[in-house]
Amino acid sequence: MLPLILLSHIALSIAAPSPVCDLDKIAIANGNYTMSNGGNVSSKVEYTCPEGMYPYPAFSRECQYNGRWTDENVKALCKAVQCPSPTILENGAFSPVKRKYFTGDVLEFQCYGGFTMFGPENRTCQANGKWSGDNTICDDLEGYCPNPGTPIGASKYGSSYKIESKVKYECNSGLRMYGSNERICMENKRWSGAEPTCRYPYTYDTPKEVAKTFSASLSEAIESSNPDKVVGDADRKIQVEKDGLMNIFIVIDASKSVGPENFKTAKNISQVFIEKMSSFDFVPRYGVISYATVAKPIVALSDHESTEGYKVIEKINNYNYSEHADKQGTNTWAALRAVHNMMSLEHVRNATKFLLTKNVILLMTDGKFNMGGDPTGEVKRIRELLNITKVNKREDFLDIYVFGLGNDVSDIEINDIASKKAGETHTFKMGNINDMKEAFYKMLEDSQTIQMCGLAREPESLGNDGNKHEVFPWIAKITITRKKTEEKCKGSVVSSDFVLTAAHCFHPEDELHNINIKIGGDHFKAEQFYRHPKYNPAGKQNKNVNRSFDYDLALVLLNKKIEFSRKIRPICLPCTSGTSWALKQRGKAVTCSDHEKTLLPSEWDKAMFVAEENTDDLRWKHVHIRRGGKRRSCLEDTKKYKNFKHILDIKDLVTDNFLCTGGTQPKVDPQTCKGDSGGPLIVKYKQRFIQVGVISWGTINSCDKKTGKRLSVPELSYDFHTDLFQMGDWLKEEMPELEFMA
Ligand SMILES: *[C@@H]1O[C@H](CO)[C@@H](O)[C@H](O)[C@H]1NC(C)=O
Ligand SMILES: *[C@@H]1O[C@H](CO)[C@@H](O)[C@H](O)[C@H]1NC(C)=O
Ligand SMILES: *[C@@H]1O[C@H](CO)[C@@H](O)[C@H](O)[C@H]1NC(C)=O
Ligand SMILES: *[C@@H]1O[C@H](CO)[C@@H](O)[C@H](O)[C@H]1NC(C)=O
Ligand SMILES: *[C@@H]1O[C@H](CO)[C@@H](O)[C@H](O)[C@H]1NC(C)=O
Ligand SMILES: *[C@@H]1O[C@H](CO)[C@@H](O)[C@H](O)[C@H]1NC(C)=O
Ligand SMILES: *[C@@H]1O[C@H](CO)[C@@H](O)[C@H](O)[C@H]1NC(C)=O
Ligand SMILES: *[C@@H]1O[C@H](CO)[C@@H](O)[C@H](O)[C@H]1NC(C)=O
Repeated sequence: MLPLILLSHIALSIAAPSPVCDLDKIAIANGNYTMSNGGNVSSKVEYTCPEGMYPYPAFSRECQYNGRWTDENVKALCKAVQCPSPTILENGAFSPVKRKYFTGDVLEFQCYGGFTMFGPENRTCQANGKWSGDNTICDDLEGYCPNPGTPIGASKYGSSYKIESKVKYECNSGLRMYGSNERICMENKRWSGAEPTCRYPYTYDTPKEVAKTFSASLSEAIESSNPDKVVGDADRKIQVEKDGLMNIFIVIDASKSVGPENFKTAKNISQVFIEKMSSFDFVPRYGVISYATVAKPIVALSDHESTEGYKVIEKINNYNYSEHADKQGTNTWAALRAVHNMMSLEHVRNATKFLLTKNVILLMTDGKFNMGGDPTGEVKRIRELLNITKVNKREDFLDIYVFGLGNDVSDIEINDIASKKAGETHTFKMGNINDMKEAFYKMLEDSQTIQMCGLAREPESLGNDGNKHEVFPWIAKITITRKKTEEKCKGSVVSSDFVLTAAHCFHPEDELHNINIKIGGDHFKAEQFYRHPKYNPAGKQNKNVNRSFDYDLALVLLNKKIEFSRKIRPICLPCTSGTSWALKQRGKAVTCSDHEKTLLPSEWDKAMFVAEENTDDLRWKHVHIRRGGKRRSCLEDTKKYKNFKHILDIKDLVTDNFLCTGGTQPKVDPQTCKGDSGGPLIVKYKQRFIQVGVISWGTINSCDKKTGKRLSVPELSYDFHTDLFQMGDWLKEEMPELEFMA
């Protein structure tokens, strides 16, 4: 009988006017709604609630064939958002203990004696139902792996943290898990998989959260595919070609529920993403796929245009949502299958090259898969093709990011498909596609200041197409014109607003319109300059220091925001989240002193500065930072210098705020000249450039007074640089967006 009933329904809907659902039943207390199709069949009502509330019983209703709304018997209302309730804090306590926690509630944590706290002391319940900050963990550091913690709202099974120990997680009832429900303590003292979180179904990631976590994870993938880097093991070095080092697959849902407007937005997101990618120092190959009942390639990886961003954008632009007309199911399996097929072709073409290529998949979906097989089976096949196994450490070669949009997505499904990597997020759930667009715009605005600092090209890699600015994209040339003189300094780009330089370059009375800044060939003016509040050249005259350079640091606010490109990029500053990414130190427990230990590990650390030999001819100069005993001899030598003999305590001149380079033992370091002032002292870590000091002053100026040419370095010649590890407090105050750490 069943088929007959169905048939009669369909017949009814064709013959008679559609039944109309009751418009009186859709009102929502305290909230608003929008409705499509005026209450006709399949008309959809979307609810919105004020911040900190969510629509109950659902975010939307649909008018069904039977003339009734979904959930029609339940009156819609906006309910207060809750954050998950904690069960226990292992080795510690939390307060207050309540049954429910609402927006604005603060949880405070304490660890028992003998246990150290990692993560925040307090966490606040946010308007989207998530607790602020990372997990709080109390650990005695006795395990082989650190305590992996228990997310709020979960129970953890297993408390042995030995090698190969396993812990399992379960979210409390009503909560959904993102991340790994099982983690294993690995040989490298880390836990496998991604940290789990538990959230209510009404919790969405905000554009700001997505921008931050997605760009962080993505820049990790980009950074490690630097074309200048030699891939392969030590004996068998393979220099990979410049292009095609990364395959990026953009997979767009074109099912019925998406609709033409949202599809257009999805195209826009893809375009913005590709445009921005093309400003980086690598050339990815794109595969773009739209899918509904079937998957259709918009751009195939094997197309010869697939490495040309603008061509790819053009093809996306010309693609029509209507291509999927009448076949508008959600076949996520087919979409991933299409990705797999494109990869297979590459594999057949040159397996060696394919296995050296990273793959990034961006999947956008607004619903559950309702046809085709289980998409996770296809993920497995992709992993097999890439030869990723639990043991062979090839996880780097695949990142699957899943963006679930709207309340029809299945949390389990999107989490199952997405990659799971420690310290990174690959599963995102957002309210709608406009939030995703906002996230992408936001990400592209801040990502490069925060996570993508310290990138540059090797001079040898420039070739014919390169521009010399790409080698020193963060160098700023500052010229201050005064009545009779002109002062020239260098500086470094540290954010889209600020150039960091030395305070002594400026006089308090300098007029802003007389300050010119040149970066990457572009001209800027100063909107304002800020000298470190403790910089006071005359402040130590009572200690016989005629001119003190202590706190010789300044920030210049530019008159317009910098648009980052290959020619202009920020350098990394110590103790910021960008540097944590560059150094691959992403744990919660990472501190400023971890950065210092990594960047300045010995008594004589390699560093470099940039010198302008002739106008616009910038060159690297390699020096050494003297620490410990070598710093003491730097101070003793400085004291011997005739100009400083009258200073009783040399530490009044060379305070602990200076890094010392120079000298002639055990090796002659090139010295800085006058115009170098304010420029960065840089440590190169792998392929990233991190500024550790600002060139301030030197004992002897042996540079030619007229030509500025570097002459031979005399004995007792040392240079001093404002130590940025000591300047965090002020920099943090001026540029909180760089996320300085303790
Ligand atoms: C409903 O929407 C209107 C106009 O967009 C707005 O002014 C009003 O504050 C909203 N009401 C609620 C309860 O969100
Ligand atoms: C609802 O359906 C009726 C009959 O099919 C049609 O005349 C009307 O335009 C529809 N209303 C909307 C808003 O689509
Ligand atoms: C945590 O909250 C308590 C009380 O609300 C406050 O006294 C304390 O300073 C907070 N601690 C931190 C680290 O914010
Ligand atoms: C994408 O959307 C933005 C803002 O809505 C618009 O300014 C831009 O022109 C669009 N881009 C494309 C390529 O359509
Ligand atoms: C897209 O659809 C529009 C209208 O249906 C049509 O005019 C246009 O030619 C289509 N474009 C492509 C590339 O098929
Ligand atoms: C395959 O790619 C590798 C790495 O790019 C290259 O060295 C090799 O010559 C290629 N082999 C063929 C047959 O093209
Ligand atoms: C896959 O990885 C394993 C372990 O690293 C290696 O032995 C094997 O040769 C790889 N297979 C291919 C096809 O590269
Ligand atoms: C510092 O000042 C003292 C006293 O004014 C003067 O004798 C000395 O030459 C000055 N030293 C330098 C290096 O300018």
